[in-house]
Amino acid sequence: MDVNEKIKLIEEQIESAVNDVKSSKTLQEIKMRFLGKTGEISSMMKYMREVPPEQRPSLGKVLNVLREKVEERFDKLETAIKELELKKRYSEEKIDVTLPALSSPDGAYHPNTLIKNELISIFAGMGFEIFEGPEIENDYYNITALNTPKDPPARDMQDTFYLAEDLLLRTQTSAGQIRVMENKKPPIKILSPGKVYRSDDDATHSPMFSQMEGLVVDKGITLCDLKGMLDEFARKIFGDSVKTRLRPSYFPFTEPSVEVDVSCFECGGKGCRLCKGTGWIEVLGAGMVNRRVLEGCGIDPDEYTGFAFGMGIERIAMLKYGINNMKLLFEGDTRFLKQFKD
Ligand code: DAH
Repeated sequence: MDVNEKIKLIEEQIESAVNDVKSSKTLQEIKMRFLGKTGEISSMMKYMREVPPEQRPSLGKVLNVLREKVEERFDKLETAIKELELKKRYSEEKIDVTLPALSSPDGAYHPNTLIKNELISIFAGMGFEIFEGPEIENDYYNITALNTPKDPPARDMQDTFYLAEDLLLRTQTSAGQIRVMENKKPPIKILSPGKVYRSDDDATHSPMFSQMEGLVVDKGITLCDLKGMLDEFARKIFGDSVKTRLRPSYFPFTEPSVEVDVSCFECGGKGCRLCKGTGWIEVLGAGMVNRRVLEGCGIDPDEYTGFAFGMGIERIAMLKYGINNMKLLFEGDTRFLKQFKD
């Protein structure tokens, strides 16, 4: 075989093979076909052994020149293809910094939390401290120490979930009052928010709901202090023109006991659907702490007096936001909750 012809042939083969190459991977494969260990050029090197010794040096030179030339050719092609590939990647990965960012929706406070926070901020402004009692209570704190006899009719006042003989889910945050008075000497001024549980379930009752309890014990505390504080509270939460009134009621742990109404903030007292035509809306229970409760906690009722109050947070939320079914406050439906986003 004529070597020069063979070289020409190889060069032609290379050109036609690389003619349409688009990726460095295929280029590498072609390169191997010619420059690899078993490639065309290597096999020509092996062929040198078959030619007479005197021709070998000149043939060797020619083949070395060919190999260098081919290597150079592939190097150039490699650089060109890599550049093309890079350009392609750049254009594919191009980031448009002018595009608006994908927005992730913000969360919002639950109406219960909004009211709870508002109440805390109103009462914190009057100097109340927060105390959170346990949700699992015993008979003593939830019932007995609150001056409620253990006989069945008194227990029937609240449908209690019992966990064991003397372990229950608290039915009222009032249980926390006892824990505070047992551990702290007056002056006492605490606010106690938390979940409570009752076996009750309809449009205005839920087996789990939240209450906010308040307790003030000091020398010379009277019902007037309670009334003054409630007036301030009602104005702050329902609006400046709202008035309060006290109606006699009964709670075993307060004497006297009262139900507190606020003048209807919807109709201004004329009578509407919200206040059921009465002009007044009941918002909480309160009273002067019963002497027997103070005594039971080791506080001398001849030296100290106090008032307490308790309200349902969901009830306040329903009144304030005009929510007619308590279920909405527990279902977690975002279509409902979205409305409270400010
Ligand atoms: N614990 C009462 C209830 O759950 C509410 C209450 C009434 C709390 C009068 C008080 C109070 O502290 O003085 O219905």
